[in-house]
Amino acid sequence: MTSPMAARVAVTNSNGGRLSQPTDGCGQAPAVGSNDTPRHAPYMPRPDVAARSWVQDVLAHNGPIYLRIVNSLERTVRRGGLAPGHRLPSQRALAQQLGVDLTTVTRAFDEARKRGLIEARGPQGSFIAPPKAGFDQRVDLSMNLPPVPDADGLAEMLRRGAAAVLTRSNAPNLMTYHLGGGNPTDRHAAVRWMQPMLGAVHDACLVLTEGAQVALAAILVSQGRDGDAILCDTLVYPGLLQAAAALGRRLLPVDSDEHGMCPEALARQARDSGSRLVYLNPTCQNPTALTLPLQRRQALARVLEREDLLALEDDPYWHLAEDAPTPLAALAPDHVFYIATLSKVISPGLRTAFVHCPSAAHAEAMTAALRATRLMGHPLVSALASQLLLDGSAQALLAQVRSEARERTRMARYLLAPSLLVRAEGLHAWCRVPSPWTDAALVRTAQLQGLAIAPSSAFCPPSVVHQQGVRLSLGLATDRRQLESALRRIDRLLLSDALPAIER
Ligand SMILES: Cc1ncc(COP(=O)(O)O)c(C=O)c1O
Repeated sequence: MTSPMAARVAVTNSNGGRLSQPTDGCGQAPAVGSNDTPRHAPYMPRPDVAARSWVQDVLAHNGPIYLRIVNSLERTVRRGGLAPGHRLPSQRALAQQLGVDLTTVTRAFDEARKRGLIEARGPQGSFIAPPKAGFDQRVDLSMNLPPVPDADGLAEMLRRGAAAVLTRSNAPNLMTYHLGGGNPTDRHAAVRWMQPMLGAVHDACLVLTEGAQVALAAILVSQGRDGDAILCDTLVYPGLLQAAAALGRRLLPVDSDEHGMCPEALARQARDSGSRLVYLNPTCQNPTALTLPLQRRQALARVLEREDLLALEDDPYWHLAEDAPTPLAALAPDHVFYIATLSKVISPGLRTAFVHCPSAAHAEAMTAALRATRLMGHPLVSALASQLLLDGSAQALLAQVRSEARERTRMARYLLAPSLLVRAEGLHAWCRVPSPWTDAALVRTAQLQGLAIAPSSAFCPPSVVHQQGVRLSLGLATDRRQLESALRRIDRLLLSDALPAIER
């Protein structure tokens, strides 16, 4: 018999997002919202994920076998690949399958029971245990961070990377001043990382920084002065708001439509204001999750060239988008600072971003601004980031992050009501806030329930009339079960008839 979770079909929701519906087991998708099928049927992982063998996972890791068995079980349960009530093979069968002693498997099952992962049911065998009640568990949906699908693997990658750096480098050289925009090895790593996005990467145009935020501030310092205006979207990444405020720059929002910033509005605003700089975050925009289609990018690139503008293309989510279109930097290379941080696809802890400047002169001006504010980067951290990029471990981690992030955005599209969800892509979902809620009331009420979310006010340039919306970050929940429960709670809160208690 086919289980309901074994067969799923893809349909398109009103947001244009693809979502997966449980079927009746015969390939028929029940009508969404029909009486016999609640919209909130349990979210199930994709069959390929569910069926991924945790036993194979044991063989793929290092360390004592009994711990590898427990860790693999834990990882698979966290990913949602083994549901509560799933019966495990007998200890004898598992020992045979893995080619190990029965005592090793018994030790592993004892440890798994202690961790609350499995429960023994006498002669029936061992089963995946129900989740522990999560009383008072705070869930953070307020920060865009890449999910960590395999914490053990991450720790191992860092250990190996750091060991390789210390073995291969000259320690005194790492501990001295480095005043340029990155040493040759770092630049080589940068070229390797940026080539898939940009095609041609020119060494003289490259600058390495400690993350995108540092890059944005350095570009603003090197390309303008107090009181200048920067053109931008009506909702923008809060770090740009902070940098602009600290440096005395005015933000001028440009009109947009469903495809993003309007090219003609950009040209008009540039002429009217005299501004030469425009900030764009064109892939999985923070916070709206919008990705500008190629045609819109081409039209904007033509405006940059015609009006002789410079764009700051902040593109941290490019690797996470489905079919990410060509960056503007590849369409109008002489007019774009392209900023590619590792923060959203590998880890913000590596504090590494690569910037491709419009020319060598722009790169030199930016490097001078960096020197004025922080003298130099962190050679040890840069060396670790370069090592991970050049030995391929960063790309392997990226593949895991991308697959987990896509599964999580898929969950958001399925679990959040179409009347609330505007878009989910990359690491976040953007939702409208229905009346009588305001985003501030929703954020406070959610906080009382242990859920942290980000209000639209956090993304508004000073002159913008505040829109009601919230951003839900999907990467920081410890696992999919926690995320599922948090998304259901937000959904229930917004759709409940109760007036926001806090406002009454
Ligand atoms: C669009 C955008 N740019 C930059 C950043 C920050 O990147 P970094 O950690 O490299 O400074 C973020 C983080 O949320 C972001 O969403």
